[in-house]
Amino acid sequence: MNFNTGDSVAFVGWRGMVGSVLMKRMLEENDFEGITPVFFTTSNVGGEAPTFDGVLSPSTLKDAYDIDELRKHKIIVTAQGGSYTEAVHSKLRESGWDGLWIDAASTLRMNDDAIIVLDPINRHVIDQGLENGIKDFVGGNCTVSCLLMGLGGLFKNGLVEWTTSMTYQAASGGGARHMREVLKQFRDLGNNVSAELDDPASAILDIDRKVLEQQRSGELDTTQFGVPLSGSLIPWIDSDLGNGQSREEWKADVETNKILGLNGDDRVIMDGLCVRIATMRSHSQALTIKLTKDLPVEEIERIIAEDNPWAKVIPNTREDSMVDLTPVAASGSLEIPVGRIRKLAMGPEYISAFTVGDQLLWGAAEPIRRMLQIAIGKL
Ligand code: HSE
Repeated sequence: MNFNTGDSVAFVGWRGMVGSVLMKRMLEENDFEGITPVFFTTSNVGGEAPTFDGVLSPSTLKDAYDIDELRKHKIIVTAQGGSYTEAVHSKLRESGWDGLWIDAASTLRMNDDAIIVLDPINRHVIDQGLENGIKDFVGGNCTVSCLLMGLGGLFKNGLVEWTTSMTYQAASGGGARHMREVLKQFRDLGNNVSAELDDPASAILDIDRKVLEQQRSGELDTTQFGVPLSGSLIPWIDSDLGNGQSREEWKADVETNKILGLNGDDRVIMDGLCVRIATMRSHSQALTIKLTKDLPVEEIERIIAEDNPWAKVIPNTREDSMVDLTPVAASGSLEIPVGRIRKLAMGPEYISAFTVGDQLLWGAAEPIRRMLQIAIGKL
């Protein structure tokens, strides 16, 4: 696209959780250099624009629903969420705006004229799209993006015949309020048995009974998740497709193949169960992979590690797995640890793997940040 130094870029949804991570990463990487950021708002039109440590916007906050204001910019970056995209995107396009729409929400993801961005894995698809005049670039499902950042090497080299993806997804996938709810539940459960916990002579089964009673009492705040998550789990994420599969599970196959640009016989089969657990911001996946051929574990590890600078193979030992292959280890980091790689008893082409990724970084903000850099010719 014809983007000149200093041209303006519109930012919508920069204050929410994903938007804040996006702004932080842009500052860390000096991404505001060469662009003039114009900040939009859905709630505070005319308010002060953020300065972000010296980044100056030329105007006060603009109305994110004002199509004429939005139209002034060659690129719009939004982390405002799906209902905003639904409300604004088609109106903008109908008005004749032909700029680039870079979006963290899922609304447009599976449209034929949209590309799912994850450039370390599908730069060729993105470049081809830009060349062919594609204008909508959308971040992928967080679990899928983190998984592919970890295991991209196997997929790109045609080594995966099929895979299951059994997920352990963090509260942040639901949003900021969901993270707070998990912590409040832990706090309330802990407070209720605080005296017993401090008394080494108390009986663990009494503590357990009190915790369970409280979880079942309806007293815990479950506004966001609907049922207690802390000290439990929820084996369903997103809507019910009516065929036994959740929408989150459906996304794994369709988005993986779309990201990789695979069609027809080249498609990789991917299915599994998506489970919400009471972690904060890193999603994990346990995989069974049927390889297209029998390869030594060392070669599998080499292919994974060499695919991109962020995939990090964790030796399949108890100690390394416990220290480096957890949500606690992965959160706040762009590295995607991949471990528990071993041959399974089913046969030489079957391996297991476990991977973890910060769903707010590679799962949300980072592909969007990088797509903007690609669009303006800096990456
Ligand atoms: N659907 C994801 C989740 C959010 O609920 O964890 C990010 O795509």
